[in-house]
Amino acid sequence: MRKKIVAGNWKMNNDLAETELFLVELKKQVFPENVIVMIAPPFTSLNQAFKSLHEHPVTVVAQNMHQSKEGAFTGEISAKMLKSVGVETVIVGHSERRAFFNEDSAVLAEKVNTALENEMTVIFCIGEEIYDRKNGNHFELIKKQLMEGLFHVSDKSWENLVIAYEPVWAIGTGETATPEQAQEMHKFIRKTIAENYSKNIAINVSILYGGSVKPDNATEIFGQADVDGGLIGGAALKVESFMNIVNSF
Ligand code: G3P
Repeated sequence: MRKKIVAGNWKMNNDLAETELFLVELKKQVFPENVIVMIAPPFTSLNQAFKSLHEHPVTVVAQNMHQSKEGAFTGEISAKMLKSVGVETVIVGHSERRAFFNEDSAVLAEKVNTALENEMTVIFCIGEEIYDRKNGNHFELIKKQLMEGLFHVSDKSWENLVIAYEPVWAIGTGETATPEQAQEMHKFIRKTIAENYSKNIAINVSILYGGSVKPDNATEIFGQADVDGGLIGGAALKVESFMNIVNSF
């Protein structure tokens, strides 16, 4: 079922002490009933966040996960390890993983499979570079990312899938996509899902926008017909700005 979601992707920010300070402030907040609030702290803070928030309507999310069950993958984290600290949702395919860690569609498809096999929810990220958009290739690129990374899953799997459209040129740049650009691509993503699966699956999947969402632009972006919320980076690192965005619907 389509839901309103605001997820804060902390990326490589906040140690345990900084996480605790954030959580103390976050727990003082009043959360809107019709919005699912998520935070994605670094691995080192997941256990603390899950324990601290278990009585609060905030979902703790992992920023990444290795595709293998276990084994000789130094420095990696498995689905089993994430579930052992209570985490049931994972971000897959963030543009920074694609760019800096060479995660191609084949690897991402494996990560999606592993997460779904472990009954986890996946936030699957897609997004074009500025040169794709300037060359008019952005729709083709987005479709390719979906076809090669995600469109192998079963119809039923969509109950545990969220899409995050994050134009790479908008991430961390302050160059937010216009509401019209966001709506145009979200509508295309939904149409592409309908064409490859069903209209029912397409109308029920949550599609989040990410890329320089701030308190002063969130309402207009979230007000678009095919935008169901946001995946927030920088503005998610302060409780005040994060909650302003959570309350932007
Ligand atoms: O995953 C969300 C992130 O990529 C967006 O970052 O700082 O542009 O909100 P930011």
